[in-house]
Amino acid sequence: MIFWRGFSRIECSVKGVKTMTTTASKNELSDFNDLYLEQLRDLYSAENQIIKALPKLVAAATEPKLKEGFQLHLEQTKEHAHRLEQIFSKLGDSPEGTTCKAMKGLIAEGQETLEEGKPGPVLDAALIAGAQRIEHYEIAAYGTVKTFAKHIGDKEAVSLLDQTLNEEKATDEKLSTVAETVVNSKALKK
Ligand SMILES: [Fe+2]
Repeated sequence: MIFWRGFSRIECSVKGVKTMTTTASKNELSDFNDLYLEQLRDLYSAENQIIKALPKLVAAATEPKLKEGFQLHLEQTKEHAHRLEQIFSKLGDSPEGTTCKAMKGLIAEGQETLEEGKPGPVLDAALIAGAQRIEHYEIAAYGTVKTFAKHIGDKEAVSLLDQTLNEEKATDEKLSTVAETVVNSKALKK
């Protein structure tokens, strides 16, 4: 994320006490609108990575409710990316250009889980664990950009981001319900 770009750590000594501080370089982030756009681009990258990853989860899940939930969320995620495109289109800007490294890491962990597990309730429980990490990342990020949009006064973006945020929260709750009512107990008996 751009927030950290342009900052380099330097070590300095004050009256013999070593302290760490930061200094801004040429790429200093100083414009709130730029920060808003960069956060939106980060989410656009995250959504597109999720669109590529979700079919693997649909294929790997054995619990019907979970499989169905991942499939539904794949369709929703395509709409989430589309909503971000709508926001950028209105601004006359491009949603491309940023890679969400956090999502890359979360998806790489999910891939490891798929390679290590065999289909069944334990793998289903592991898939839910990974998917909820992803949902929580998105809930945090959408909450932030929605607040930014409010402060900037982009009402249309607030409405679009709010719809997505609510769907992410609903997905997270559904995952908890499937885990608590079906999958975890099956995994324990396994
Ligand atoms: Fe999403």
